[in-house]
Amino acid sequence: MLPNASHPSTTDHVPVLAAEVRELLAVQPEETVVDCTFGAGGHAALLAQDLRGLGKLIAIDVDPTVRPAFERFRRHAGVQTRLLRGNFAVVLSQLAGNDVRADAILIDLGVSSMQLDRPERGFSYATDAPLDMRMDPSAPESARDLVNEADERELASIFRRYGEERYATQIARAIGRRRRDHPITRTADLVDVIKGAIPTPARFGDGHPAKRVFQALRIAVNDELGALESALPDAVRILRPGGRLAVISFHSLEDRIVKRFLREQARGCICPPDFPICTCGHEPVVRELTRRAVRPGADELAANPRASSARLRAAVKV
Ligand SMILES: C[S@@+](CC[C@H](N)C(=O)[O-])C[C@H]1O[C@@H](n2cnc3c(N)ncnc32)[C@H](O)[C@@H]1O
Repeated sequence: MLPNASHPSTTDHVPVLAAEVRELLAVQPEETVVDCTFGAGGHAALLAQDLRGLGKLIAIDVDPTVRPAFERFRRHAGVQTRLLRGNFAVVLSQLAGNDVRADAILIDLGVSSMQLDRPERGFSYATDAPLDMRMDPSAPESARDLVNEADERELASIFRRYGEERYATQIARAIGRRRRDHPITRTADLVDVIKGAIPTPARFGDGHPAKRVFQALRIAVNDELGALESALPDAVRILRPGGRLAVISFHSLEDRIVKRFLREQARGCICPPDFPICTCGHEPVVRELTRRAVRPGADELAANPRASSARLRAAVKV
């Protein structure tokens, strides 16, 4: 039986690839830093330190429960700070529209340990809780809605695409059968359906059998890839020349979006290769600071296994 949601653990969030982020963003006094994913404020605290008492840190998070962590951060930040509550895709576009300019921008994707460790948020397959998974609790669609209302083909496609789940079709069919009897409302119900849908040997290899489906649902419920795609151009837009952007992703699809975007922005001429002279006049917008994604070292992995899939890419605006 799964532990009950009323006993949350209190694991502290450890900022991922913190030294590497600090080095690549190279924040200087009097600059403006935008932390698009404030979370528990781990990265924000380090970047604020680098401002050495002069400058501004704008924090963004879609989850209103970060407010107490932000208030603690603000008391010690020693620089001007503001919390903007909302999806970074929307907030960055508003900042761009208001001519706000930044020198350093960080996007640290995914969920925070705070969210994972609060069972009542329904992100975790390890604890029984309502099936929710919304980072923004006021968003219209929860994991419960998706699991009970999407057709089986759509569910299978979500599990395959965002979770690389081998048994996507079998699990989607099993969900279809279960919900004809009664709605699937709790994380433990879903774990039970998943376990029943996959062959017995697959239940014991490659981590928890529900891991991939939970990840896939979380990405779909929060439209995580859509937010990233729409935020990247606005992030570059608000950077001043010489401004730096760093993105930490935890999923190959996220990393691919970041990699492609930065490659494209770093390209000069985009004329067809058989053109004798350049007619496009296209100039690079950024210079990549990381040719390959930066991965956590052995020490970090030993201290924080949650960092294992992290990849960091960064660029400077030219
Ligand atoms: C991995 S945590 C960030 C942790 C943070 N860097 C730290 O050191 O504490 C990701 C945070 O970003 C937020 N988040 C994820 N996607 C978001 C989006 N599209 N817009 C705004 N916030 C988002 C989540 O609510 C979560 O608090």
